[in-house]
Amino acid sequence: MTSYEGRNVVVTGGTGALGAAVVERLLRQGARIHVPAWSAQDAARFPLGSDARVEVLGDVDLSDEVQVDAYYAALPPLWASIHLAGGFAPGTLEDTSADTLRRMLSTNTISAFLCCKAAAARIRANGLDGGRIVNVGARPALVPSAGVAAYAASKGAVTTLTLALAEELKGAGIWVNAVIPSTMDTPANRAGMPDADFSTWPTTDEVAATIEFLASPGNACTRGALVPVFGRT
Ligand SMILES: NC(=O)c1ccc[n+]([C@@H]2O[C@H](COP(=O)([O-])OP(=O)(O)OC[C@H]3O[C@@H](n4cnc5c(N)ncnc54)[C@H](OP(=O)(O)O)[C@@H]3O)[C@@H](O)[C@H]2O)c1
Repeated sequence: MTSYEGRNVVVTGGTGALGAAVVERLLRQGARIHVPAWSAQDAARFPLGSDARVEVLGDVDLSDEVQVDAYYAALPPLWASIHLAGGFAPGTLEDTSADTLRRMLSTNTISAFLCCKAAAARIRANGLDGGRIVNVGARPALVPSAGVAAYAASKGAVTTLTLALAEELKGAGIWVNAVIPSTMDTPANRAGMPDADFSTWPTTDEVAATIEFLASPGNACTRGALVPVFGRT
C-alpha cells in the first residue's frame, strides 16, 4: 500500500472508540492526524494526543457550519478526511420525538455533510491530484431494522450523500466512500448488551483496517462504495 507518510488526515470522532483505532493505524503508516473534538475534556484526555503527529482541538461542534469551515481552513494541505463523529438513539416510532430525529440528523448527517464540503474545498485548494473522504454509515441504513428509525434515517442520508459526492467529486480525483458497521465490539456496546456474544462483533481495529485502505493513496480507484463491515453479525 502506498504510504501515508507525512500526509495530513482529519479524523472526526477521533477520540471515540472507532476513531482511536483509526488514529492508531494511520500513525503506524506515518500520517499526521488532526482531530476536531466536541468536548475540550475529551481532547485533553485523549491518550494518542501526546504523539507529536496528533493535533487535537477541543470545542469544535461539527454540526455548526461556521466552526467546521474555520477548522478546515486552518489546516495544512489535506490528503484525506475521515468522518466518524456521530451518535445513536434507539427508540420505536411511537417513542421517538421530532427532536430526537433532529438530533440524529444534526449529529450524523449534518456533521458528515459539512465535513465533506469543507474537506473537499481544502483538498482542492492543495492544487494536487485528489484526495480521499470516508464517511461512516450503520447497518440499519442498508438492512431494515426495527426500533432505530431516527438513527437509520440519519445514517441512510449519510450513505446517499456518499454516493452523490462520489460522482460529484470524481473529476477532482477525490474518492468518497463509506464503511457501514454493524454493532462493533466497544466498551459502550459491551456495557449496553452484556448478554450478547461479543465474539460475533467486528472489532474497532478490524473496521479501522477497511477505513485505512479506503482513505489511502493505495486506493487507486474505489469510490462510491458502501462497504459492509459486519463481521459475523
Ligand atoms: N459503535 C457501534 O457499534 C457503531 C455501529 C455502527 C455505526 N457506528 C458509527 O460509527 C461512528 C463511531 O462510533 P463510536 O462507537 O466510535 O462512537 P463514539 O465512541 O461515541 O465516538 C463518536 C464521537 O463523535 C463525537 N461527536 C458526535 N457529534 C459530534 C459533533 N456534532 N461535533 C463533534 N464531535 C461529535 C462524540 O462526542 P461526544 O462523546 O462528546 O458526544 C464522540 O467523541 C459513529 O458515527 C457511529 O454512529 C457505530
